[in-house]
This record gives sequence, C-alpha cells and structure tokens, in this order.
Amino acid sequence: MALREIRQEGDEILRKKSREVEVVDDKIIELLNDMDETMHAYNGVGLSAVQVGILKRVVVIDVEYDGKPSIKLINPVIIKQKGSEECQEGCLSFPNKFAKVVRPTDVTVKALNENGKEITIRGKGLLAEALCHEIDHLDGILFIDRMEEGTLEYIDSEEK
Ligand code: NI
Repeated sequence: MALREIRQEGDEILRKKSREVEVVDDKIIELLNDMDETMHAYNGVGLSAVQVGILKRVVVIDVEYDGKPSIKLINPVIIKQKGSEECQEGCLSFPNKFAKVVRPTDVTVKALNENGKEITIRGKGLLAEALCHEIDHLDGILFIDRMEEGTLEYIDSEEK
C-alpha cells in the first residue's frame, strides 16, 4: 500500500465526472487499498478516487474508526433516500474548511464490492452524509456547491 497525494481545492480534476469501472482487477484493488490508507492518514471519513487524481467511480468510507475494515464501493449509486438533516461538512480536498449542508438522513446505495459482487448498503446519519458526499465527488460536485450561503468556516484543528 502507498499514500497517494490528495488533490486540493482549485485543482480542475475535482470538477470532472468519473467513469464507471468495468472490471474489478488488481489495479482497482490497489487503488482501493491506497485510498483507504490515505483517508486514514489524514483522518478523513471518506475519499473518492478523483481526489487522488483517478477518474474512476471508486470510494472508501470509514465513519466509525473502530478498527473494522472500511466500506469500499465501486460504481456506487443512490437508489433510495429519506429525510433531511443539516450537517457540518468538510472534505480532505478542503483542509480546515467546513460548511453546513443539508443531506438525507437515510440512504440506500447499490454498488460493487472489492470482489466485484453487487451489494446494497444502507446508511443513516454520518454514514448517509458520507455516502452522499463521496458519490457527489464522482460527478464533480463539491460540498461547497451545496452549502448554505454564508456558512463556510475556517477551523484550524491543529491549533494548540
Ligand atoms: Ni470530499
């Protein structure tokens, strides 16, 4: 595994639409594993392949940090959503920036897992938020596009 460089705010790749994965091969597995390592290295709860410069519909999510394997999704699609909730949201491509975004409270997503098998996962609360945020990335949509006006804040969490 290896850390990958995270593309930052202003990088035009973040606005591009990612392509579907046709075959789940060793390269995709390596990408998933590298993304997982990179996400944890930066304490993120989710990361999409476009954020490491790869325009493929691949995401990793870990909202729990309980040592269990991360959720790894290929070609994820939201098939059902319910409710709405205001969330304070950030993104590894926007270090220290946060804004309020309204997201569904309960989403169901269809995807392939790392074995190329079709799976359905349901997420509530923070997991629902992360699924929506990461799937948006695959279409070049960023949380700043959905934020409520005037809620963007700079919070330096490293400050001591
Ligand atoms: Ni993000």
